[in-house]
Amino acid sequence: MNNSAISPHIDTVLITGGASGIGRATVRLFLDRGWTVVAADLNEASGKSLVAEYEQESSDGRLSFVQADVSSEPDVEHAVAHAASFNGALACVVNNAGIGGAFGSVTETSVEDWDYTFAVLSRGVFLGVKHAARVMREQGTGGSIVNLASLAALTGDAGLQAYSAAKASVLHMSRVFATELGPDRIRVNCVCPGAIATPLNPSASRQFDGSELARAQPLPFVGEPEHLARAIYFLGSRESSFVTGQYLAVDGGLEAAGPRLGEYLGTDPRYATLVGVNRGNTGVKSTVRGGAAR
Ligand SMILES: NC(=O)c1ccc[n+]([C@@H]2O[C@H](COP(=O)([O-])OP(=O)(O)OC[C@H]3O[C@@H](n4cnc5c(N)ncnc54)[C@H](O)[C@@H]3O)[C@@H](O)[C@H]2O)c1
Repeated sequence: MNNSAISPHIDTVLITGGASGIGRATVRLFLDRGWTVVAADLNEASGKSLVAEYEQESSDGRLSFVQADVSSEPDVEHAVAHAASFNGALACVVNNAGIGGAFGSVTETSVEDWDYTFAVLSRGVFLGVKHAARVMREQGTGGSIVNLASLAALTGDAGLQAYSAAKASVLHMSRVFATELGPDRIRVNCVCPGAIATPLNPSASRQFDGSELARAQPLPFVGEPEHLARAIYFLGSRESSFVTGQYLAVDGGLEAAGPRLGEYLGTDPRYATLVGVNRGNTGVKSTVRGGAAR
């Protein structure tokens, strides 16, 4: 289907998991920036509510919903084909659909739960890239693919083994596919959200002040889906036309803060409040010049 009412010069984006959380905010942002958008999601009720919400504001027909399971190759192929024929060229695919997946001790994790986690989070991204790249190659227009990994891809969160491992595969796939697809001007990048307040992560929405998250995260406010949408838009649009094979952590500084080794290794806590220079074991005296502002 080609939506002939819309200008064919507008770019189209396919966003999986587009009916909720980060995906839904990303759908809204691409629409605001004038794109035509196809949202694909397993949850048909949320998809219908997304479209109904948009149609209350606008009758321009720039949003379409397709029900799809990203772990199913026929579903992904169909969603990509639908997006490619919706309104001219498919310029961007955002592989965002996700679940929490298997949790708990590795000794108790079932094969079924492990495979389900990888089917959605890892195979889902592989299929999204595979079919997007086929279409983009055929179009000869290049394009941009943005994959949602997680800060968990970079850490070894006990209890979230399957999720962390699957997200690490997303991060690495993005690099590998970027090198293969670069000559076709198809860019592949990855976004690693920190703790974002969405239905998938209700704990991020709880009271921020005084929480464990507030202690660990340098920026003193909760990550919202819109923060992610803006980063995804940057990587998905021509704003980032020379960027490929990268990941962007959108995490309020959690990755940069790291595990706060100073706290665990017994670094003098006064370093956080005093100002001066430590000259180590050189025999030259260390100095303290005063206190820091905070
Ligand atoms: N919220 C966070 O703190 C956080 C942190 C790191 C990474 N992420 C990642 O960001 C992405 C978006 O998460 P969110 O927090 O917006 O979650 P969300 O639950 O609000 O939205 C996820 C959407 O994906 C859909 N979905 C799930 N399985 C699907 C499948 N098999 N096929 C198609 N659609 C499917 C759901 O129906 C839902 O609409 C996920 O990949 C998630 O792993 C989120």
